[in-house]
Amino acid sequence: MDLFDKLESRPSPLGEFTSEGYGYYTYPKLEGPLGPEMKFNGDDVIVWSINDYLGIGSNEEIKEYDAQIAKDYSLSSPMGARLMTGNSTEHEKLEEELADFVHKDDAFLLNYGYQGIMSVIHALVDRNDVLIYDELSHACIVDGKQLAMAEKYVFKHNDVESFKTQLERAHRKKKDDGAVLVVTEGAFGMTGDLGILNEMIALKEEYPFRLLVDDAHGVGTMGEDGSGTGTHLDCHDGIDLYFGTFAKAFALIGAFVATDERVVEFLKANVRSQIFAKSVPMPIVKSARKRLEMIRNNPQWREKLWENTNMLRDGLRDMGYNVLPAECPVTPVLTKGSTDLCQLIMRKMREEHGIFVSGVAYPVVPKGTVLIRLIPTAAHTKEHIEKTLKGFEAIKDVVFAEAEKQKQRMTA
Ligand SMILES: Cc1ncc(COP(=O)(O)O)c(C=O)c1O
Repeated sequence: MDLFDKLESRPSPLGEFTSEGYGYYTYPKLEGPLGPEMKFNGDDVIVWSINDYLGIGSNEEIKEYDAQIAKDYSLSSPMGARLMTGNSTEHEKLEEELADFVHKDDAFLLNYGYQGIMSVIHALVDRNDVLIYDELSHACIVDGKQLAMAEKYVFKHNDVESFKTQLERAHRKKKDDGAVLVVTEGAFGMTGDLGILNEMIALKEEYPFRLLVDDAHGVGTMGEDGSGTGTHLDCHDGIDLYFGTFAKAFALIGAFVATDERVVEFLKANVRSQIFAKSVPMPIVKSARKRLEMIRNNPQWREKLWENTNMLRDGLRDMGYNVLPAECPVTPVLTKGSTDLCQLIMRKMREEHGIFVSGVAYPVVPKGTVLIRLIPTAAHTKEHIEKTLKGFEAIKDVVFAEAEKQKQRMTA
């Protein structure tokens, strides 16, 4: 069979969203300057789908800074992988500052978070080791697992008993010189719950392992000083490798992993996505340094983010919406319903109320459920939230009626 013909019948993780609605439900174009107010299909919308948690993406100071550094350095520089010709003092300074920010000895810059963490996982374990991960881990961890040579065990999401069972199994099964790597997330990006880091770390003594935490959604937003979910949960020292991306609170591109000096030295020599790929361009590195400085100097952005998050959640709950008990700013609204309901909510909110929200349905969430995921940011205003709540109020009868029908369908 021709490969291209065969692709037509291959399923996508996007389910029914792939077959229709390109440019609307998938690949929509949000236009105009980045921020909580943008244009969608030519209309003004209030946006709740961008992970610019601290509002840095629309900060005027950073915009000016970026324009200047793009002039000073070109976007091309430096060329080559860091190992060869792509290193600079700025790259190294950024690594020092990141390590200091997240309270680890050293850090290693990654040109992309997704490939970076995959490659870090691949580098860390060999065929004698065991890799254990949470079943709801982000795709980059799941794909990192595919690359890893180690034996792999998965535990039920945030279930300490299931985790313990897999740890026991790993220690029983691993080779004599084998080691155990555990990977989970700090703040889960879809559901907004936090990894059960304390409970996991407590098992280290009985069943030794090293813990890698993907804190994509926690870096900059969680913890008193923004140093992440480990700080928030008061167990940061138990995290052996801390991964953060610039793709969210930094509103940039790139990522890092922070850990012991000797491990960073190892990673520099073994992480293939960095050894064999171009280094992060200088303007991005300079901008990341500037953004880090701003995050450190503006703790009030985190306060504003939480103020907005709480106002949005309280308003939704008061109307009867089921907001999952998320402990990070991600605000997931779960309702019963089909893909049709998910599309209806997005369409009504966008077309009738000028509110851009994104939702997911089966197979991303269980069949018969719809998850509308709202991302509050420090840049949203009280007026944005009030207008959004009005929109949710206006569609609530339709949503709740559909949810009731779905409930009956499921119990029939
Ligand atoms: C939990 C998590 N890990 C990793 C990534 C990938 O990071 P990046 O966008 O920097 O490639 C994402 C998405 O951005 C994420 O949500």
